[in-house]
Amino acid sequence: MQPLIFAHRGASGRYPENTLPAFQAALRHHADGIELDVQLTKDQQVVVIHDHFLDRATDGTGLVSHHTLAELRQLRVGNWLDERLHPTTIPTFEEVCAFVAYTPLLMLVELKNFLLPQPSLEEKVIELIKKYQLEHRVVISSFNYDSLLHVKQLAGDLRTGLLYIGRLRTPWEMALRFQADQLHAPQEEITASLVEETRRHGLTLYGWTINDVKGMKNLAKLQIDGIITNYPLRAYKQFSKM
Ligand code: G3P
Ligand code: CA
Repeated sequence: MQPLIFAHRGASGRYPENTLPAFQAALRHHADGIELDVQLTKDQQVVVIHDHFLDRATDGTGLVSHHTLAELRQLRVGNWLDERLHPTTIPTFEEVCAFVAYTPLLMLVELKNFLLPQPSLEEKVIELIKKYQLEHRVVISSFNYDSLLHVKQLAGDLRTGLLYIGRLRTPWEMALRFQADQLHAPQEEITASLVEETRRHGLTLYGWTINDVKGMKNLAKLQIDGIITNYPLRAYKQFSKM
């Protein structure tokens, strides 16, 4: 079995990250799923954006949480990547759910609630997942492990993925302690023994963020369950050749 391919922030190597054009491109580029980041606006709407600050990905400044959705809608997102791209806007999580519902895509939803508290983000995300009947196509991930536990308490049927950045000697134990179904490991941490231990403990293993061909091939050989990449088409072509 080849690993599942998840487009990291959409097909973000070619399109502005975490936007509908990037998610639509993921589908055209044969991704099995999309990965995206969610956080709350000042008026408690769930929006799709990676950084807590607007400055890198948009033409705005300041914290996402200090702006209403109406204010955020005025901002342009990342068309400076390629001037032929039309300017686009920050999508709401509901818009992405509505898009995914009409596709076969899976969805990895990362709660951005590790550095800044996002009260009730879990409840709002779960409500939208249920509204669009995406329960069986979604994994909720976070670096905030209490939040993952909270997701399980709110909706035991939803899968969760424990994100980590290294320096965890036995990450599978952490995943089990916080009732996660999956481990999402950074590329440099993935070894044959991590794959083996993860499997032995009944967990699914995804790796991020795998953009190089050599890395893609190595992880496919190790039989990892999924890779998260900015270049889904590149991964698809590699895996088709194997
Ligand atoms: O899903 C893994 C990856 O997205 C976590 O890192 O910073 O890209 O959100 P980051
Ligand atoms: Ca992410």
